[in-house]
Amino acid sequence: MRLDRYLAEAGKGTRSEVKKIIAGRRVSVNSTIVTDPGYKVKEGADLVMLDETAVRFETVEYFMLNKPQGVISATKDLRDKSQTCVTDLITDKVRGDLFPVGRLDKDTEGLLIITNDGDLAHRMLSPKKHVDKTYYVELDGRLEEADAERIMAGIDIGDAKPTLPCEINMLTGQSLLITIREGRYHQVKRMFQAVGRNVTALRRISMGPLTLDPDLEPGGYRRLTEQEIEMLKS
Ligand code: URA
Repeated sequence: MRLDRYLAEAGKGTRSEVKKIIAGRRVSVNSTIVTDPGYKVKEGADLVMLDETAVRFETVEYFMLNKPQGVISATKDLRDKSQTCVTDLITDKVRGDLFPVGRLDKDTEGLLIITNDGDLAHRMLSPKKHVDKTYYVELDGRLEEADAERIMAGIDIGDAKPTLPCEINMLTGQSLLITIREGRYHQVKRMFQAVGRNVTALRRISMGPLTLDPDLEPGGYRRLTEQEIEMLKS
């Protein structure tokens, strides 16, 4: 791969920015300064350094983020500049093209996968795949058993179709776990609103085979393990 492309794909700047960096004699390959932007780098074999720091090359990256409240599920280019977006929280990313797999509301916490693997995201979000998503929910009052039954059977939330059947496991009278297989706009909040209850806290704890790592505080993240990536892909 050309050196300028290698650096651009590693998030070091646009193609023209990295050409200037290379011309400025700031880049070395295997300890020799290289000033030709077309120099052919062997990814994974050559050691590329920018200002004495190794430039890792990754084509795809996968992170598990415990999204905190107050942060929006968007990428830099789409956000209102005054808002922090989820990809801003991943400070040691290599790639500049990461995005969240699906969205959580600004006031929702919990599991969000951040990647640049478009195929994986597409498969996980496809309505046909029905990927299970489990949320911890707190309500502003007791949920009656009959209302839980109505929600579990599939409920009208004002869309063309009612929601698909889902599971609810009560924890206390007003906190519960709910597992849904769709990803409609504000879906969980609207399901409880349909029976006259408001959601006061919402946290996603699993998505498909992936469960939120309990060691991650809100705002914390880590790379997915090879095993987790394989599980998601299969
Ligand atoms: N359902 C909601 O209402 N909000 C979310 O953020 C996720 C699911």
